[in-house]
Amino acid sequence: MYTEVLVTGAVAALVLVAHAARARLRLSRAKHRSLAGHSRWARRLAKLLPYYGFDAQRFFDSDGAPAAIAAQRKAGLATLRTRLQLDCPQSQALTARLEASLPDLAFTNAYRVPFQYRQTLGEQLRVGAVAVSSHGAQIRDADGHDRYDLSGSYGVNVFGYEFYKQCIADGVRRAAALGPVLGPYHPAVASNAERLREISGLDAVSFHMSGTEAVMQAVRLACYHTRRTHLVRFCGAYHGWWGDVQPGIGNPVPAPHTYTLEDMADTALLVLETRRDIACVLVNPLQALHPNAPAPGDGSLLTTRGAHFDRAAYGAWLARLREVCTRRGIVLVFDEVFMGFRLAAGGAQAYFGVTADLVTYGKTVAGGLPIGVVCGRHDLMQRYHPDRPGDICFARGTFNSHPYVMTAMASFLERIQHPDIVALYDGLDARWNARAATLNQRLDDLGLPLRVTNLSSVWTVCYTQPSRYHWMFQFYLRSAGLALSWVGTGRLIFSIDYSDDDLDEVFRRFVGAAVAMRDDGWWWCPPGVDAHDIRRRLVGEMLAARFGMRTADRHE
Ligand SMILES: Cc1ncc(COP(=O)(O)O)c(C=O)c1O
Repeated sequence: MYTEVLVTGAVAALVLVAHAARARLRLSRAKHRSLAGHSRWARRLAKLLPYYGFDAQRFFDSDGAPAAIAAQRKAGLATLRTRLQLDCPQSQALTARLEASLPDLAFTNAYRVPFQYRQTLGEQLRVGAVAVSSHGAQIRDADGHDRYDLSGSYGVNVFGYEFYKQCIADGVRRAAALGPVLGPYHPAVASNAERLREISGLDAVSFHMSGTEAVMQAVRLACYHTRRTHLVRFCGAYHGWWGDVQPGIGNPVPAPHTYTLEDMADTALLVLETRRDIACVLVNPLQALHPNAPAPGDGSLLTTRGAHFDRAAYGAWLARLREVCTRRGIVLVFDEVFMGFRLAAGGAQAYFGVTADLVTYGKTVAGGLPIGVVCGRHDLMQRYHPDRPGDICFARGTFNSHPYVMTAMASFLERIQHPDIVALYDGLDARWNARAATLNQRLDDLGLPLRVTNLSSVWTVCYTQPSRYHWMFQFYLRSAGLALSWVGTGRLIFSIDYSDDDLDEVFRRFVGAAVAMRDDGWWWCPPGVDAHDIRRRLVGEMLAARFGMRTADRHE
């Protein structure tokens, strides 16, 4: 009898262990093979990465370029210095003042280029970080230089800066009588909530001060209502800078309740299908442009990068995800903080034809003021259970529903119903695809080694040959009068009201910048060298830096 009990216990324990091992294996298989898919390893390895920098000579020939090419590059950088630094004394002075107090600016300045080049570049070329006015599609710096805006203000600018100036001015007017009174709601809140319910197709709304906060709240609600502990995000996707949605490099705090799975993969669906601890899945539709890859910043652009958007394939993937989430009681969250209102009036849900349980909006939706919004199914948005008074999901915030933000939002939500704005969505994708094709044709005609890939009005520059210097292109674009965010050429964001004339001028400058960069020798490439060779060389440099060895070779 006693033996029987022991054997039964042992068998049960074995079954449990086997079950846990199978679940763990499934989870491992559902991770993307890149480091971005293995956040813990990425963090550990990142800590081992040694710093090394190129001196004023190596800066120009780190790819083994001959002396003549290095001299061409040097002359090119001197020209950029004149245009971007010496001709901009006011911007330089103001930026220096800012740098003394804002570590954030020091960070973005440092990380806009690969670290090996950072110090020498900083000694030779400093770019201004101050803007004083905007008009039409252009932004003016402190020295009066106008540049076409390709930064899109991190995605906020969907309809053009004049549109947002009107929303804010209108908002200030409407909120003036109440002022910054918090607690009681401004009447605009009711109409905003009704309009957002209509747009999202969901039942209830909450207001926050940033996209990060909105995502935090969506995840918290999902955990509260499902009584589960974990969230799923897809490899490479950005959902704000809150720890749990940003495991890995950049977040010093562990994120033990996050599974990062491979995007658009059956193995990920299998994990959702079988685990019982998953409260929600976060989807950032921007990832459709580069599934499983992080934001394509020039700071990490050391060889090439890829991007490809297939609307049908991504839509089909979302439909499968929807189906599994519904079956498994997992909350599907569309994080439309970036893409909401950009792809279609009904956002990514309408664009891909898939309905989420919770949707977050942000960036543009308060007419240019800081905002985060959660829209959701009635049952998921409740903050307490009437039959369990101690069991609540607390989420508030001093500035939630701020009168000025709410009135600017009211103005935004009214203005986007204007026929001129509604018309912008007609044939939107076809228009932006044709525009990208036009630019690519011009680049192709001149044999230039770069192309753009787009998800509607969000573009990324891809390079058709390997090089260690593609990141330099951001400075040529700037010098040609095109303004980018610190992320650089990996993310060009157009407002959807860009006129054909403005865009034609942007293309002329873009192509001119590429010609100048080529003529200055930055795209020189030793015959037969491919991206693997460059990566090998990089690894060699890193090992040499780590273990104190010397590397040097040059193609004469
Ligand atoms: C998809 C997505 N979610 C969340 C956020 C965070 O929004 P915020 O910067 O307003 O906190 C961002 C910001 O870029 C985003 O793109």
